[in-house]
Amino acid sequence: MSASPLISGSSTRTVNGLSLPQVVAVDGPSASGKGTLSRKLAQALGYTYVDSGAMYRTLAWYCLKQEVPLPAAAGLNATTERPVVNALRRWKAELRKVNGAVWLHVDGYFPEKEIRTDAVERAVPVIAQIGKVRDWMVARQRDCMQFGPLVMEGRDIGTEVFPLAPVKFFLDANPEARAERMQGRGNQAGTERDKLDMTRKKGTLIPALDALRVDNTGQTVEETFAVLMKHVRSRLNMGQPGAPGSSPTPS
Ligand code: CDP
Repeated sequence: MSASPLISGSSTRTVNGLSLPQVVAVDGPSASGKGTLSRKLAQALGYTYVDSGAMYRTLAWYCLKQEVPLPAAAGLNATTERPVVNALRRWKAELRKVNGAVWLHVDGYFPEKEIRTDAVERAVPVIAQIGKVRDWMVARQRDCMQFGPLVMEGRDIGTEVFPLAPVKFFLDANPEARAERMQGRGNQAGTERDKLDMTRKKGTLIPALDALRVDNTGQTVEETFAVLMKHVRSRLNMGQPGAPGSSPTPS
């Protein structure tokens, strides 16, 4: 698999006279609502959904399962990173689309539940700091374009993976609202992960300059979804509300 020439995500396809972008990038911290909103957007647009965080989690799960020695966040260097980089070279991971979403499968298996454990929560932001891991992940994320137009959520989709994606969002909510959402899920580790993600050198969690920043504190999912769809429509020049491509505007 090689990086697609469509790396930028700037290319478009034309359907019924409408110009549709190949990638909608959705970034933001933990519990900012990007998972729920990205799935809804993908469904509404008929795009393939990609959870880039699940790919990093899958590598963390694989390393734990293989008992690969994991570096401490403060002790990352070429020597401590090597076992993880070696694991990345030997694992048999491939992208597969299942029910409209792309997941990394390892030896033909997607560890859907296993990637949500506390151990993975702790390991993932550390391995996500390793430059060679990020290079591998970014290349695979670009490879997802083989599945057609995408809604991809993550931390660096609009800045690193598809810097020229024509539709970019950066979702956020105030710390109290996010802490409450995390508590509702019984998982508070997101705040710690966000700190590491915001301070790392590569793939830093920051909004792309051209992303629409949406603070959804106090909003319902439907309210935020309406804001996002309005922006998608304006970017796609769709004119009328409704399903994309359903009522093309004569040009
Ligand atoms: O769902 P949540 O936003 O809490 O996290 P996730 O999307 O499952 O991502 C888990 C972790 O993977 C993040 O905390 C990052 O350390 C890493 N990640 C990343 O580095 N780059 C991405 N594009 C996506 C995730």
